[in-house]
Amino acid sequence: MEHRVHNFYAGPAALPRPVLEEIKENFLSFRGSGMSITEISHRSDLFDELLDDTINRVNRLLGLNEGHHVLFIQGGASQQFCMIPMNLALPGKPIDYINTGVWSTKAIKEARIQGKDVRVIATSEDRDFSYVPVDYTVDGDASYLHFTSNNTIMGTQWQQYPDGKGVPLIADMSSDFMSHPIDGTPFGMIYAGAQKNIGPSGLAMVIIRDDMLERVPDDLPTLLKYTTFHDHKSLFNTPPTFTIYAINLVLAWLEETVGGLEEIERRNRQKASLIYELIDNSEIYHGIAEPASRSLMNITFRLPDPKSEQRFLAEAQNNGFIGLKGHRAIGGCRASIYNAVTIDSVKSLVAFMEEFEKTCS
Ligand SMILES: Cc1ncc(COP(=O)(O)O)c(C=O)c1O
Repeated sequence: MEHRVHNFYAGPAALPRPVLEEIKENFLSFRGSGMSITEISHRSDLFDELLDDTINRVNRLLGLNEGHHVLFIQGGASQQFCMIPMNLALPGKPIDYINTGVWSTKAIKEARIQGKDVRVIATSEDRDFSYVPVDYTVDGDASYLHFTSNNTIMGTQWQQYPDGKGVPLIADMSSDFMSHPIDGTPFGMIYAGAQKNIGPSGLAMVIIRDDMLERVPDDLPTLLKYTTFHDHKSLFNTPPTFTIYAINLVLAWLEETVGGLEEIERRNRQKASLIYELIDNSEIYHGIAEPASRSLMNITFRLPDPKSEQRFLAEAQNNGFIGLKGHRAIGGCRASIYNAVTIDSVKSLVAFMEEFEKTCS
């Protein structure tokens, strides 16, 4: 008998069930070829069509124009922390960062290692990164302005993106990519590790604008240059072909089954509000993120003490709710409810949490 659980892992994370079924059904023969997707040359027409289709889907879903290019780069989002300053810092111009938690801090660290002129123009460290700053000044003289759109660990999310005052924005959208519509125009670059909202692990999707590609210095190592990936359509060397295939299926599900990013945002808001409502009316669950900065993707909360948290997590697991332990950096609990987590899973979790609260009185 099939055994599936309610999966709330932060990443790698739940994938849409129709995607998993499609992979299973056609694994031995990709598009009637008699070969698995894992056995096909990345130089074949079959793979090339898949790659083109994936890029076209990204462009359609995000409404991007021709000035933006979709790249697939190994090394995850963390590799981008180092590639961004290396490729996109302009000589004599500082690079601006907004620090909203662990992932922004890591991005800043990689830029400093390279000796770049890093300016942290805003930070929410004063209150343990429990909010996203709204009060800061953007100078307009920087090479770029980097921020993390959704802070996976603390459970905060930008409600309105910064105004770069003409400075290109660069956003780490790893944990809320494709979860709502965006206006790509002010972004010099957007990137996201695949393993949260768009597929299995193995790469970062990078969306980069023409003028950013012009900044790439000639003397960088080949595989650390954005131009290498752009000029060879992400096929300079062998890409993670299975991951790209799975991303293609997730994007097809988003476009054709869900109906696009407005609809997925509506669903995501509905799911998140069910859990936040419960937290706001509870005696035992306390939200970690400040309400004005709450994430629709990662909902973080604590129970009154570590012992009740442990009991909560153990009972949740026994009841088929997996992945609710908070990140080791902050502890507590976290429900990650990315696009593929169903409203039914969320309703079941809410019912479980209500029942658990009753056992605490
Ligand atoms: C916002 C954010 N940025 C970057 C990363 C790092 O991603 P990767 O493991 O793909 O390097 C994560 C991973 O959890 C993340 O949540």
